[in-house]
Amino acid sequence: MASLTLLLPALICLQFHLLSLAVADVNIGSRISTDDNGVWRSPSGHFAFGFRALNNNTDPNTKLFMVAIWYDMIPDRTVVWSLKTDNKLATAAAGSQVRITSAGLTLAGPEGNSIWESNLASVVSVGSMLDTGNFVLLNGNSEMVWQSFENPTDTLLPTQSLQPEATLTSRLTDTNYTTGRFQLYFKDGNVLLSPLSWPSSLRYTSYYVLNASASASTLVFNESGDIYVNTTNGAMIQPQGSQWNISDLDPEVNYYRATLDFAGVFTQYSHPRNNTAQPGWRIMRYVPDNICTAISYEYGSGSCGYNSYCAMENQRPTCKCPYGYSMLDPSNQFGGCQPNFTLACGADVQTPPEELYEMHASQDFNFPEGDYERIQPYSKQECQQFCLQDCMCAMAVSGGDTCWLKRFPLGNGRQETVSDQHVVYIKTRVTRDFYTGVNGEPSPAPDSKKEFVLGPLIGSLVLNGILVSTVALFFLKKQKVNRVSKAASGPSETNLYSFTYESLKKATQNFQEELGRGSYGIVYKGQLEEGSCHVVAVKRLDRLVDEREKEFRSELSSIGRTCHKNLVRLIGFCDEGMNRILVYEFMSNGSLADMLFGQSKPRWSVRVGFAMGIARGLVYLHEECESPIIHCDIKPQNILIDEYLNPKISDFGLAKLLLSDQSRTTTMIRGTRGYVAPEWFKNVGVTVKVDVYSFGVMLLEIICSRKVC
Ligand SMILES: *[C@@H]1O[C@H](CO)[C@@H](O)[C@H](O)[C@H]1NC(C)=O
Ligand SMILES: *[C@@H]1O[C@H](CO)[C@@H](O)[C@H](O)[C@H]1NC(C)=O
Ligand SMILES: *[C@@H]1O[C@H](CO)[C@@H](O)[C@H](O)[C@H]1NC(C)=O
Ligand SMILES: *[C@@H]1O[C@H](CO)[C@@H](O)[C@H](O)[C@H]1NC(C)=O
Ligand SMILES: *[C@@H]1O[C@H](CO)[C@@H](O)[C@H](O)[C@H]1NC(C)=O
Ligand SMILES: *[C@@H]1O[C@H](CO)[C@@H](O)[C@H](O)[C@H]1NC(C)=O
Ligand SMILES: *[C@@H]1O[C@H](CO)[C@@H](O)[C@H](O)[C@H]1NC(C)=O
Ligand SMILES: *[C@@H]1O[C@H](CO)[C@@H](O)[C@H](O)[C@H]1NC(C)=O
Repeated sequence: MASLTLLLPALICLQFHLLSLAVADVNIGSRISTDDNGVWRSPSGHFAFGFRALNNNTDPNTKLFMVAIWYDMIPDRTVVWSLKTDNKLATAAAGSQVRITSAGLTLAGPEGNSIWESNLASVVSVGSMLDTGNFVLLNGNSEMVWQSFENPTDTLLPTQSLQPEATLTSRLTDTNYTTGRFQLYFKDGNVLLSPLSWPSSLRYTSYYVLNASASASTLVFNESGDIYVNTTNGAMIQPQGSQWNISDLDPEVNYYRATLDFAGVFTQYSHPRNNTAQPGWRIMRYVPDNICTAISYEYGSGSCGYNSYCAMENQRPTCKCPYGYSMLDPSNQFGGCQPNFTLACGADVQTPPEELYEMHASQDFNFPEGDYERIQPYSKQECQQFCLQDCMCAMAVSGGDTCWLKRFPLGNGRQETVSDQHVVYIKTRVTRDFYTGVNGEPSPAPDSKKEFVLGPLIGSLVLNGILVSTVALFFLKKQKVNRVSKAASGPSETNLYSFTYESLKKATQNFQEELGRGSYGIVYKGQLEEGSCHVVAVKRLDRLVDEREKEFRSELSSIGRTCHKNLVRLIGFCDEGMNRILVYEFMSNGSLADMLFGQSKPRWSVRVGFAMGIARGLVYLHEECESPIIHCDIKPQNILIDEYLNPKISDFGLAKLLLSDQSRTTTMIRGTRGYVAPEWFKNVGVTVKVDVYSFGVMLLEIICSRKVC
C-alpha cells in the first residue's frame, strides 16, 4: 500500500512530463509504445507521430501496428507516412516501442528485438515533429541528420521535395498500408509512373511521363501547395494532363497533400483546415487523365484486378466484373473478378460445349491485351463458335472481319463504348439455377445426354468386373468361414466393416427399437459399443426371395464406394447364412416424410436446403460416380435428415448399378406408386431421368409440404 501511495505522484509527474513533451522537442531517451497510446505531436498539433493499429483484433497476440505520421486534427486522421524496412511496411506486435537515443530512432519488438534502426553516422541530440509533417532528428549543431521527408512512402506534403534517388510507392489498398502496385520515380531526367510486378519491385513499362526534357532535378511541392519539377537549368515544369488544372491555392485555409494512390493515380488533394466546415479530402487534380486507358501492357492487371474492367467515375477509377463474373473479394473492388462457374479444359469431356456454355455479347468494355489468337477473315458467328468450342477460350472479340481470342487471366480491362462493328463475347456457363451451389460452389454439369468416351468406359467396365467378381468370391468364401466380431476387412474396393450377426443382435438389443420399414426390410436402432455414442441404423433385409442376394450385393458395391455429404454413409454389413444386414450412420431427424408430413412443417429456407441437398446427391449419383447409379425409388421416406438438417439419400436397395455403356436399361418396374416415371410403363429403356421424375414429384411435396397421394 505504502509503495503505491508513493508511486502515484510519481506517475502523475511522469504524465505531465509526457504531455509537455507532446508539443515540444523529443528528447534523447524518450519512448512511445503500443501500450500507452503515446504520440509525439507537432507544436500546433496538426501532425502526430506514433503507432497506428493495422487491424481491429482484440487479441494482443495477433494485433499489429505500424509506425506512422498522420494529420491529427481532422477526423480522418489520414496517414501521410509510414515506416518501412527494406521497402516493406515495418509491422510491430503489441508491446513494441519506438525510442530516440543518441544513435538515432529505433523500433523494437516486445522482447526488445530490433525491427528497424535509423543507422546514422552522427550523434543525435534531439528529435522533433515539425508542423510541416516532417519528423526530424537533429545533431548538436541543430542540423537535420534524418527526416521522414527524405524517406517518403506514398505521400508528399507542402515543403517536401523528392530527390532523384527517392521514390513514392503506393499502398496496396485504401486500408492496407503494405507496399502496393505502383511507383513514381525518376528516370533519365524525367519523372515516371509505372506498375510494379507485385510483390516484387520490378517496374513494368511506364503509364505516365512527366516530361522534363531529361533534366529533372527534384519534384517540388512548395509551401503554397504547387507541384512541379525543378530542372537543372532552373525551369519549373508542371505535370501535363487534362485533369491537372490550375487552382487557387490557399495553404492558410487548406491542407494539401499529393499521394500516389493505391489505384496508380498521382493525385493532389485538399482538405479544409477548419474541419467543421466541410470535412473530407477533395480531389484537386491528378495525372494521368484516365488511368484505365493509360496502362496498357501485356503484363499486369492494370489499375483494377484481373478479369475486371476499369471505368473512370467521379474522377476515380472503379472496377466492374463482366457478365457472369463476380468479385473475388467483395470488400475490395480492386481485387479482381472470377467467373461464377468453372471454365477448364478436361472437366467436361462428356458433354458437348454447346450444351454447357453460351456466348454473351457486350459492347461496353474491352481487354486489349491477352489475345492468344487473331483469326482473319472470320465472321462474328465463326468467332463465337470457335471460342465456344475451345476450352482455352474465355472471351472473344470480333471487329470487322477479325476475331481475337482471349485467355485467362484477362488483364488491363477498360470500359469503352465500341462501335456496332465491334462485339465482345463472354463465354458463360448455361445456368440451371437449380444446380447452382449455395456457397458459390461452381455448379455441377447440368443434366444432359451422356456421350461416353471409350477409354474411361473400358476402364470402368474392367473395374466393375473386378468388383463384382471380388464381391462374389467374397460371399462364396463367407459361407464357410466363421467371422470374428468386428473385422476391418470387406470387399477390397470399399472400406466397409463386416459384422457378425451376434454383435449386431447385441448392438440392437435383439432387434428391439424399430426405426422404420424400408422397401425390403426393417430398420432398427443400434449402438455399436456399450455406452459409446456411436449410434447406427441397422437394416435387416428380408431373407425370403432369392433376388435379395443380388440386391444385397448391388447395394454393397454401389454405396460402398460412394462418398457424398448428401448420401447416407454405409458403415458395414453382415452376411452370415441367411442373414443379410446393412449398417448405416444414424440420422437423428428421421426421414423427410416425417418432417414434411408431421405436425410442424419446416420453414421455407430449410425446405429449399432440402431440395438443393437432395439434388446435389442425385447429381453425384448420376454424373459424378465412376458409373452412374440410378436410385429408382426417390421418395420422402428414403431421404433421411441429420442433426444439422442436411438431407441424405438412403436406401440403395433398388439402386441399379449402371455399367457405363448401359445409359439405358430395361428391367421390371421398380419404385413406389406416385413417384414412378411414365417410361417404366412404356417399352423403352429407363435412364437416370426416372430419378429426376421422382425428384420432381417430391419437389412438389417439399414445396407444398403435403403428400401427392
Ligand atoms: C476498425 O473498425 C472501425 C469501425 O468498424 C473501422 O472504421 C476501421 O476501419 C477498422 N480498422 C481497421 C484497421 O480495420
Ligand atoms: C495487406 O495485404 C497483405 C498482402 O495481401 C496481407 O498479407 C496483409 O495481411 C494485409 N494486411 C491487412 C491489415 O489486411
Ligand atoms: C519532351 O518535351 C520536349 C520539349 O517540350 C519535346 O521536345 C520532347 O519531344 C518531349 N519528349 C517526349 C518523350 O514527349
Ligand atoms: C510555388 O510555386 C508557384 C509556381 O508553381 C509559385 O507561383 C509560388 O510563388 C511558389 N510559392 C512559393 C512559396 O515559393
Ligand atoms: C531548383 O533547382 C535549382 C537548380 O538546380 C536549385 O538552385 C533550386 O534550389 C531548386 N529549387 C528547389 C525548390 O529545389
Ligand atoms: C471554423 O468554423 C467555425 C464554425 O463553422 C467558425 O465559427 C470558425 O470561425 C471557423 N474558423 C476558421 C479559422 O475559419
Ligand atoms: C479540370 O478541368 C477540366 C476542364 O475544365 C474539367 O473537366 C475537370 O473536371 C477538371 N478536373 C478537376 C480534377 O477538377
Ligand atoms: C454471379 O455471382 C454473383 C454473386 O454470387 C451474383 O450476384 C451474380 O448475379 C452472378 N451472375 C450471374 C450472371 O449469374
